[in-house]
Amino acid sequence: MVHLAVPGPPLCLCPLCSAPPPQGTAAALAVDGTDGPWRLHRAREAGHTGRLCGLDPDGAALDRASGRGGIEWVLGRAEEAVWEGEFGLAVMASNVFQVFVTDDELRASLAAIRHALSDGGRFVFGTRNPQARAWEQWNPANHVDVTDHMDRALRVSHFVESVVGDVVTFTGTTATRAGEPLRIDRTSLRFLDAGRICAFLGDSASRTRRATGTGRVGR
Ligand SMILES: C[S@@+](CC[C@H](N)C(=O)[O-])C[C@H]1O[C@@H](n2cnc3c(N)ncnc32)[C@H](O)[C@@H]1O
Repeated sequence: MVHLAVPGPPLCLCPLCSAPPPQGTAAALAVDGTDGPWRLHRAREAGHTGRLCGLDPDGAALDRASGRGGIEWVLGRAEEAVWEGEFGLAVMASNVFQVFVTDDELRASLAAIRHALSDGGRFVFGTRNPQARAWEQWNPANHVDVTDHMDRALRVSHFVESVVGDVVTFTGTTATRAGEPLRIDRTSLRFLDAGRICAFLGDSASRTRRATGTGRVGR
């Protein structure tokens, strides 16, 4: 999820921020079709009257989100975004930062987000702290029992296949409570420390500045 921001008083779409949004001045983009929709919806309910936009490559997630009116939904990846200076705030929360596994993918995504921001725009994001080593808890013994939207009793568990450098590859299994697998998803997530994140952010900012007047760089 990327949420984009506005110049002027801070606009935060996150539930942790209780500041009322400025009226009619903001355009915001959310990259994340899972948690982004309710954040955008919440911003609208809180009185935000400007443009609100959500971006995610997961069509099913966007289909679920599109029932919420007054918000623009765009199917696509962050690195494919072609907005130019249209948003005052970009927010990328809820573990999305971890999905950019390669340097090129991360650089291109950050450059696209930077390019989508207006002058003085802000990029707000969350990322997981690698020092917490969360993946060490991702094993079948720590399964979670859930009930889905069709009222089915399910069990969700994880299994780490490998940890190579800062990239963790794991499976997520959705099963019946009796243990019959219904769906298995395999994913890699990257856990960067603060120093490396700052380096990537600085790189994307300078790449975008160099692009001014000469066409877009880093896409
Ligand atoms: C790890 S999930 C986060 C799900 C949920 N927010 C959570 O915290 O469990 C990552 C989200 O980012 C989206 N995503 C994956 N690749 C992306 C990309 N290249 N650009 C933007 N969003 C991406 C996925 O479709 C998904 O909605």
